[in-house]
Formats: sequence, C-alpha cells, structure tokens
Amino acid sequence: MLKGKNFFCLLDFQRKDIELILDTSFMMKRWVYTNSVQKILEGKSVALIFEKPSTRTRISSEVAVYKLGGFPMVFDKNVLQLSRGETVEDTGAVMGRMVNGIGARVLKHETLERLARSSGLPVVNLLSNFSHPLQGLTDMMTIKEKFGDRKVKISFVGDGRDNVLMSLASISCSLGYDLNVASPSSMRPDPSLMERIEERCDETGASMDFMEDPYEAVRGTSVVYTDVWISMGEESIAETKKKQLGNYRVTSDLMKYTTEDSIFMHCLPAVRGEEVDAEVIDGKRSAVWDQAENRLYTAMAVFSLFL
Ligand code: CP
Ligand code: NVA
Repeated sequence: MLKGKNFFCLLDFQRKDIELILDTSFMMKRWVYTNSVQKILEGKSVALIFEKPSTRTRISSEVAVYKLGGFPMVFDKNVLQLSRGETVEDTGAVMGRMVNGIGARVLKHETLERLARSSGLPVVNLLSNFSHPLQGLTDMMTIKEKFGDRKVKISFVGDGRDNVLMSLASISCSLGYDLNVASPSSMRPDPSLMERIEERCDETGASMDFMEDPYEAVRGTSVVYTDVWISMGEESIAETKKKQLGNYRVTSDLMKYTTEDSIFMHCLPAVRGEEVDAEVIDGKRSAVWDQAENRLYTAMAVFSLFL
C-alpha cells in the first residue's frame, strides 16, 4: 500500500511499487483521453509549495489534483510566511491541520523530510537538489510508450550529479535497464547514492556505467537524454560549468552513433546551443513534447496513490 507514504525518491520503492505507479499513469492517460477520470481526490485539498520556478511541474500537479476532483493550492514561497522567517516545522504543522497532502519543490532535499515530520501528511517531491522522481517516472513512461517492454539501452550526456539523472538512474536500474552516463570525471554522484544504485542494479541485472567520452556512451543506445548544464541555484558557477561541459552537447553527429530508432529526451526547460542543438531537440527523433505531456499522468498517478 502506498497510501499515506511519502514520495521522496524512487529508490525508496521496490520494483513492484514502481510498476504499479507506471501502470496507474497509463490508466490515467486512458482516463483523460476517454474523458472518464474518476474523482479519487474528491473532498481533498493539496498544498503545492514552490521554492523554485516551474512550468511543467506546477501545471501538471495543479491540473492533476483538479482533474481527480481535489482542490490544489499553489504557493510560491514568497506568498507564505516562510519568506518572512516562519519555520518549515510551523508551516508543516499548520498544513497538517487543514489539508490532506503536500507537494513541494525545494532548495534542500531535507526540507521534504521536515515538512513530512511536522505535518504528518504524505509529501510528494516536486524536485529537490537531489532528485526529481516525478520526472523519472515520466521518462520511463515515455520510454515504454516508444519501445514497449524492450529493455533498450539508455544514455545520459551531461553532469553526472544531476538531479534528473539521479531519478532516471533510480528508475532504470530498478526496472533492469542499462544506462551509460557521459560526464567529466569531476562530476560523479555521491558514493553513498551510487552504492544504493549498484545494489539495485545487482538485484535487477541492470547497469549504470560512467564514461568521459560522449561518443562511447551513446553508441548503440536507443534513448539519449540530457538536462540543462546549469540547474536552478547554480547560477554562480555557470561559467565554470559551461567550460567543463563544453564537449557534452547532444548534436546530430552524436545521434548518428545511436540505434536507427533512437529518441532524444530532455526534461525541459532546455537551452538550445548548450546541452543540445536545436536540430536535435526540434528534430524528428525528439520525444520531448510527449515526455512533457506525460508529466500530467504520472502526477495524477502519484497523487491518487499516495494521498
Ligand atoms: N521538467 C520540469 O520539472 O520542468 P519545470 O521546472 O518547468 O517544472
Ligand atoms: N536539473 C534541473 C532540472 C529542471 C527541471 C534543475 O534542477 O534546475
């Protein structure tokens, strides 16, 4: 049972739970397309807190709760007393008395845990510095839509510590996919996280391999994924990162080394000319708009299962 649990990180869940969330996401898509969404959240209110900007996550979470019959309340941090120094604990305690669940996009991952402890409510991670599990679910949903249950090879090009990569890695290794990561050797994930990912790979037969050469990483893969070089909050180190990641751009030339049926994926927002060339993201292999649409169905699945 997932009801009442927190949704912080995909590695917190076993393979069968992840498969249930994915199956539910596909069901939500069918419900939306056939105009038959059941009002699973009727009478429930959900607070959606954003400490950072958002387009897809904000829209998909708000529409998801609305479509399921619930009442979504979106709070940018600056409209809450949090911005004037009220503590996370006091905010959580108040929300615990009035709403039925919280979604939060936070600067620090630990804020999710503090909100969950103080509110006693299920908390959904809408992106933290560490992970973006709703994105990881959406990515896998999109891969399954494109390739069915074939265990195609996946590659990621960019910062090996990226939050979106962490969730992509968590779901791909939980479900038995091989993932290659092209990134500078100075950009590797935290060893304790890698230990958890490696344990999961051992259980499922998946792999996650790091390499410095993007051509080596993408060769023979069917999914090429990248994310922005500069994540929210990294503005002060932008110039340094741009120099370090200069060779880690997804170009048409790089895509030539992938399988004939390969797709390009990106969580968005994208910076054309930095992590990806316009002709790739706007080209026929690009799956980014299907991916963006699927954010809605995974949000519907998570809110309906966890609340
Ligand atoms: N992919 C994603 O989370 O986009 P937003 O930052 O616009 O929500
Ligand atoms: N890595 C990016 C993802 C945005 C959806 C960031 O954290 O800004």
